[in-house]
Amino acid sequence: MRLERLAENAGWRQARELRRLAREAGDLTRTTRSLIFEAAPKAVWHGGIQAGLKRLASHYANASLMDVRVEVSGDVSRVAGKVTDHLFDAAAELLWNACNHGHATRCSVLVEVKMGRVRLRVSDNGSGFVPEEALERSRQQTGLGLYWIMMIARSFGGDMQIGSAPKRGSVVDVVFAESASRRGGP
Ligand SMILES: Nc1ncnc2c1ncn2[C@@H]1O[C@H](COP(=O)(O)OP(=O)(O)O)[C@@H](O)[C@H]1O
Ligand SMILES: [Mg+2]
Repeated sequence: MRLERLAENAGWRQARELRRLAREAGDLTRTTRSLIFEAAPKAVWHGGIQAGLKRLASHYANASLMDVRVEVSGDVSRVAGKVTDHLFDAAAELLWNACNHGHATRCSVLVEVKMGRVRLRVSDNGSGFVPEEALERSRQQTGLGLYWIMMIARSFGGDMQIGSAPKRGSVVDVVFAESASRRGGP
């Protein structure tokens, strides 16, 4: 970023201010792009799971935020529409978390349909976090976060697992049953 280059040649006081401005500009850009993206109608997913995830990935690539690899395996046409919607919401939230909280530079999104189950795995090379603490914070929040992704997955006969530790990146696995029969929950 140009502001950071300016900071390299400035006195320490100005450099500190320039770096702060660079950080603020980065945060603002991320937030704006995310809001634009989140406001997009669900119709963007009409091309199916793979096309939808690729679109998500290109959003991050086009904004030079994060490199996102997408891999889909198995017969995704079997996955119920409702499950697909939740899967996209979860993928979008987990990618946003990786970028916004983890400041990851690389992320991968894997979807696997196998034996009546759909697995979404989002891995990132970001800062990592303590899963139990994050889940507890998430539980107290409104809106779609880790806790609610877990509760929705459970209500669709699945679950969520987090592998992460500070400075170690993270791997979040969300599993749904491929049919849309709900079992209580939110
Ligand atoms: N991929 C990630 N990298 C680093 N920290 C994360 C990541 N995902 C979640 N977190 C941490 O877990 C917290 C809870 O996440 P989440 O439930 O999605 O709520 P929110 O994004 O609204 O804060 C975040 O505030 C952040 O501290
Ligand atoms: Mg979040």
